[in-house]
Amino acid sequence: MNEKPVYLDYAATTPVDPRVAELVAALFAEDYGNASSNHAIGRRAAALVDEAAERLAALVKCDPERLIWTSGATESDNLAIAGAARYRERRGKHLITMPTEHKAVTDMFRELEREGFEVTWLKPQPDGRLDLAEFEEALRDDTQLVSIMHVNNETGVVQDIGAIGAMCRDRDVLFHVDAAQGLGKLQIDLSALPVDLMSFTAHKLYGPKGIGALYVADRPGCHIEPLLFGGGQQRRIRPGTLPVPMIAAFGLTAAIAKESMHADLEHIAGLAERLWAGISNLPGVSLNGAYYGRFPGIVNVSADDVEGESLLLALEPVCVATGSACNSQSQEPSAVLRALGLSDAQAQSAIRFSIGRPTTVEEVDLAIERYTSAVERLRALAPERAA
Ligand SMILES: Cc1ncc(COP(=O)(O)O)c(C=O)c1O
Repeated sequence: MNEKPVYLDYAATTPVDPRVAELVAALFAEDYGNASSNHAIGRRAAALVDEAAERLAALVKCDPERLIWTSGATESDNLAIAGAARYRERRGKHLITMPTEHKAVTDMFRELEREGFEVTWLKPQPDGRLDLAEFEEALRDDTQLVSIMHVNNETGVVQDIGAIGAMCRDRDVLFHVDAAQGLGKLQIDLSALPVDLMSFTAHKLYGPKGIGALYVADRPGCHIEPLLFGGGQQRRIRPGTLPVPMIAAFGLTAAIAKESMHADLEHIAGLAERLWAGISNLPGVSLNGAYYGRFPGIVNVSADDVEGESLLLALEPVCVATGSACNSQSQEPSAVLRALGLSDAQAQSAIRFSIGRPTTVEEVDLAIERYTSAVERLRALAPERAA
């Protein structure tokens, strides 16, 4: 009974687009140059890096010169948050974020707390969104940095980064946004958004794992201290020999996304609606996070009286996540769902379906069928089930 896996875990990672895989293979074989070398082979490598920066910059409408290459969104988040907080330390040590951020953000803030910074952790409203009035009240004279994500990786909830950024600008507070999940899926226009620092990664967008970027705005007071020290590449903000094939792959990933974003979103939204319509009439099943104002590709659902890990097994061959993939080693209920006000049991029953560009109607229909029968079966087995 070896059924073919059905992948509905695109928020964890995505398959590499064949065009990108082909490019990487060719570059690894032929373009071995060091982008810092001042000779023909080095200059060709540097040109590939420049082209990639232009492609990513075109997707998010920023100056390509303002992009720093990193190893992924974890590093971009760490670099932005620690770098900005430490750079502005003498002006003040107050920082603001939310407990619903990715661990690459929350764990960095915990580290800064150990270093003596003071962090205000703003709880979301039950729909996952930040209460803007509460946010405004939390801003203080000594606040230096705010970090609020674009699309939440567990629920798909989208924060109003335009409004949050405007409040930060009014008070000369730096604003960092983790855009790992939103890049190339929802419109991001850095020429209009009041954002100072934005984290990206390629592997959520049909690019390879291990390559990311950080946007750093060209504004007075917007500087970051490096985390790494070495050869002085990337204006000393992130030294190290550039992984040219990976960077070029990220560039192509961005160029493809720019072309297909609208079609992708339409496709994904249609399938998400079908999925939710197919499972929402099961009794005791609820959607976690706002229904409107979210990226539709992430559908996070809880079911009364069932346990997520058992559901995960019962759903096979449908591959989904319980909580966040990054937390899946732990049996703790998801901190993100707990912050939305879910009980431990509700959070533990949560399943995250995430839909991508390659997802088909047949795959969604199979997921609906398996989820329905798994919930019914597990409930019939559970002795403690309330009548
Ligand atoms: C919102 C968010 N931030 C950061 C990360 C970490 O990204 P990476 O795997 O590129 O380090 C992820 C993915 O796991 C994510 O979903």
